[in-house]
Amino acid sequence: MKNHIFIKNKIKTFNKKIKVSSDKSISIRSILLASQAIGKSNIINLLESEDVLNALKTIKKLGIYYKKKGSVYQIEGYGLNGFNIKKKTTINAGNSGTLARLILGLLVKSDKKVKLIGDKSLSKRDFSRVIKPLNLFGVNLKSRKNCLPIEITGTKFLRPIIYNENIGSAQVKSCIILSALNTPGTTILKCKKSRNHTELMLKFLKYPIKIKKNKNFDTIEVKGLNQIKAFNYNIPGDISSASFFIVLTLLSQNSQIIIENVNVNQSRLGIVTILNKMGAKILLKKKRLYNGENIANIHVKSKKKLFSINCPSELNSKAIDEFLIIFLVAAKAKGVSKFHNLGEMNKKESKRLDLAVKFLKLIGIKVNRFKDNINIHGNPNLSLNDNFIIKNFLKDHRIFFLSCIAALTLGGNWKINDKDSINTSFPSFLKILKKLGAKIN
Ligand code: S3P
Repeated sequence: MKNHIFIKNKIKTFNKKIKVSSDKSISIRSILLASQAIGKSNIINLLESEDVLNALKTIKKLGIYYKKKGSVYQIEGYGLNGFNIKKKTTINAGNSGTLARLILGLLVKSDKKVKLIGDKSLSKRDFSRVIKPLNLFGVNLKSRKNCLPIEITGTKFLRPIIYNENIGSAQVKSCIILSALNTPGTTILKCKKSRNHTELMLKFLKYPIKIKKNKNFDTIEVKGLNQIKAFNYNIPGDISSASFFIVLTLLSQNSQIIIENVNVNQSRLGIVTILNKMGAKILLKKKRLYNGENIANIHVKSKKKLFSINCPSELNSKAIDEFLIIFLVAAKAKGVSKFHNLGEMNKKESKRLDLAVKFLKLIGIKVNRFKDNINIHGNPNLSLNDNFIIKNFLKDHRIFFLSCIAALTLGGNWKINDKDSINTSFPSFLKILKKLGAKIN
């Protein structure tokens, strides 16, 4: 079946209300924590994308029963370390770094060996960042040069650790927090700021976790061996998915959009802060607290004049998955935008910083790169007529989304390959674009 799309026209003016797909990070965490709770948990509005379905398949392989009843996923846990693992179990995290790194944290106490594998993109990613702290807990892991496949064998003799997480990775932080659940005593984690959904969900579930916030880092204390009761959880919209529609609206003519029920957790709001500093007027309305997370409706209007930014690197972790689309705004802004210390972008589903530079040059934008810093020379008159073919991006969903938004706002004749990559995080992406009037074949 055809796995590419063609876009040949810019999107016309629109004024609509939409909902984007549910949050991927929160969906995966809700499944993993429900697998450790005692009793039946109900997850409402779970994102039904490949990464999340792989999380469901994974807990099933580990002996946890789930079923879908109407629009609710019911997951039946047997408490901490309640997995029932068969001999020679292999689990497949597919494309998901989050699932792969977090599930290792839940396997620290199981005495059976489990093999963790993933797809081509995930198999290129580095796991030393989680192997190191897991070893300190006393867990045995075998890998091929810190990459998948990894074999993990847990231990009954776990010891709590004191750890300094200085990458600013929520996946590493969460892997350690989940390992601490099964470990006697108190694990103490000093970590550079990153998204905090795991901590918030555990707090919401009344698990004994203490968080002390400092300017650039948090100190987290987790008391092990406390049980979690079954819970109900409703997943909000994903700001990473919303980001593509925010930029689509910003760069289109005379358009406006309201994106309803989006998670606007401070640790994810980098895109809004950065774009507002560049001259956008993105508003968060109807703010409310739900299940321990902040939710709002996001209001965006087109903006004719956008300005360059010297982006403070404190915002990097708050927008780590959004820089690709932020760079497109920088390409249309007046002046030279500067972004610093973005090495982490090259450790994602594809080498996103390298691909971003290639992409910007392809659309005629001057870019200077110095190691992990880039300067983007914006051109407010940028408009395209040429032919563009986008391929070889390791099926990275966010490169696909970026290409579609570039095509719909800048013009040109585009062929964009690997349409199926949208299933990783946002299966309804093209449907929503069409609802806004985009012509996509
Ligand atoms: C995620 C954390 C981020 C992000 C990823 C999802 C999570 O990765 O890029 O898409 O759900 O914890 P890092 O924590 O490695 O920065």
